[in-house]
Amino acid sequence: MSVDLDRLVAALRPEERAALTAGADMWTTVPIERLGIPALRMSDGPIGARGATADHQSLTPSVAVPCGAALGASWDPALVAEASAIVARQALEKGARVLLAPTVNLQRHPLWGRNFEAFSEDPLLSGVLASAYIEGVQDEGVAATVKHLVCNETEFERYTSSSDLDERTLRELYLLPFEFAVRRAGVLALMTSYNRVNGRHVPDQARLVTEILRGEWGFDGVVMTDWWAMTITEEAGETGLDLEMPGPARSFGPALAGAVEAGRVDERHVAEKARHVLGLLGRLGLLDGAAGEPAAGATAEEHPQDRPEDRAALRRAAADSLVLLRNDGVLPLELAAPAGVALIGPRALHPPILGGGSAKVRPHYRLSLLEALRAAVGAGVEVEHEEGAGEAGIERAVALAGRSDAAVVVVGTDEVIESEGHDRISMALPAGQDELVERVCRANGRTVVVVTSGAPIALDSATGAAAVIQSFFGGQEVAHALADVITGRSEPGGRLPVTLPLRLEDTPAYGNFPGESSHVRYSEGLLVGYRWYEARRLAVAYPFGHGLSYTSFELGAPSCSTDRLEQGDALRVELTVRNTGQRAGSEVVQCYVAPPGETGRPGGRLRAPKELRAFAKVRLEAGESTGVVLELGPRAFAYYDVADTEWPELVARRPPTGDQGEQALHRSRPGWYVEGGRYALLIGRSSADIAHRLEVDVAGGDEPLDAATLPG
Ligand code: GLC
Repeated sequence: MSVDLDRLVAALRPEERAALTAGADMWTTVPIERLGIPALRMSDGPIGARGATADHQSLTPSVAVPCGAALGASWDPALVAEASAIVARQALEKGARVLLAPTVNLQRHPLWGRNFEAFSEDPLLSGVLASAYIEGVQDEGVAATVKHLVCNETEFERYTSSSDLDERTLRELYLLPFEFAVRRAGVLALMTSYNRVNGRHVPDQARLVTEILRGEWGFDGVVMTDWWAMTITEEAGETGLDLEMPGPARSFGPALAGAVEAGRVDERHVAEKARHVLGLLGRLGLLDGAAGEPAAGATAEEHPQDRPEDRAALRRAAADSLVLLRNDGVLPLELAAPAGVALIGPRALHPPILGGGSAKVRPHYRLSLLEALRAAVGAGVEVEHEEGAGEAGIERAVALAGRSDAAVVVVGTDEVIESEGHDRISMALPAGQDELVERVCRANGRTVVVVTSGAPIALDSATGAAAVIQSFFGGQEVAHALADVITGRSEPGGRLPVTLPLRLEDTPAYGNFPGESSHVRYSEGLLVGYRWYEARRLAVAYPFGHGLSYTSFELGAPSCSTDRLEQGDALRVELTVRNTGQRAGSEVVQCYVAPPGETGRPGGRLRAPKELRAFAKVRLEAGESTGVVLELGPRAFAYYDVADTEWPELVARRPPTGDQGEQALHRSRPGWYVEGGRYALLIGRSSADIAHRLEVDVAGGDEPLDAATLPG
């Protein structure tokens, strides 16, 4: 950026500086034509570039990549970056230079309406994939906007609800993906959430946006509100919030100028906000024009392209995001002609490709799984479709399955059921689909059940299925990908980014979702997702990280670069992965860290039984081997200590008796610390399928770790 921002900010009149702190309209910032400062156009969203229209009907078509949960299921940063670059190019074709994505809130509860948009229940998987998404977008000259800071994990009363949680949980879980976005990916913009956190709206909290985001992490990009978020108070005039969206201005802009004139807000804060907005324009090369040039982007036409190469890339991405949960050998489907396949279910003709709300786009095209499957099964194999709706429809479906060589039943939710703006009320399949699945499975022992959803679905009705595939709204090419995977042209490359629980009552946030009296208690604390089920020793339907392949792999004995780790050092785990099967496939090697000793011991500190700290995805031909290196930095073993500044005074007032019992370690300075002890490194194919256990002695430290490190 060749622009002298100080000079440019100084050249702005006070009312111009204030004008830059609020949008001009739904999707653009305010141009300052006197100085050649153009408007900056933005566009949703994570799945595709919607463009500049407020309603869905008038949207121009857009590419539709796999949703966040599907990208999460890929466990593949390179794939995520390739998909997000496609979205970014579509944003440019619609005149936008800021993409309002990725969504990195955690899948805390199965019923959150926007689970499909988020990557995972795990903060490290979310952070690593979000970083790849951001890099893919920003390498195309578009600013990514990591959202929604923070704890936006319910749609119920989302503007007023307060997510209430302790500082350690906030740091170790919910802030971590944002920390990755800022520190690893250099995200250029960030959106605050609608909800309150511990009783206050985020834009009004200096603690989150000024002290942590800017002060600790060094973020100097633009912080914007979510659209029409709560009226921000003048306190936000002095926090790190820069931009009120959308325009026209309500609390910022002229109102902020008035607050400055009245002496209620210091003008320096307004100048800082304007500087951040100009800094973003400068980083995007939009300030290089001479003063007085017409505003670029404000009236851009939209010319979205539908490219064959994008279709091919998204077909591969969708296959790599499909998770094969169970397979008795029926897949890949190999049928000798003449044969018949029954394609059944309300989601069979057009499997849903995305979820609802601001992430929803109007795709360039919709594919039919019936056509895709007919093209994939080859000559002599007939594919016949029956929707299976209602009693008569189920009977026809059962009859069709009964006279077919195999059956594929496609059930699940869609963008109406799973959407921004409302949560689901249960994990159950929509009415009638369980009965359809059960009766078709009974009619044909070679039934494949495909579940299309953005979040966990109760799968009790599929116990009789020969195979089950989980498809997390896999984007515009998901029908081709399903046909490719079912017939074996592609391998299902996905692994679960979220635990599939047996029942809602077992879930971590049960009883605390979606909250009551305007408060959502995050009472499960650190134990989100698999951390909960493992700490409570609860059985699940399918564990985090699970996914079958069409081939098999051997994870060779790992070696560790050290068996004693000094404070602040990093270690490396190396192993060989071999494809021991008869066909090519992909494997995701996962490394979890387990803390020393029994967690939750008296005086001890609660630690999750294991935490994902590194992973690597490899693709191997039959018989091929490759080396995998997993790097673990010092924070892979750390916890966040909020410090106990009242301890010295409490100790001073204790009775002098000797029976003080075991005492915890009370730190005086907050930060990331490592408790000394013997940690286990668990290497496997899922959180529940651990192939190897290594132990390493890790030195503890009385000083906090250098804050600039990230785990994994
Ligand atoms: C929405 C969403 C946000 C989106 C914005 C603009 O309400 O919460 O993710 O980017 O408004 O549509």
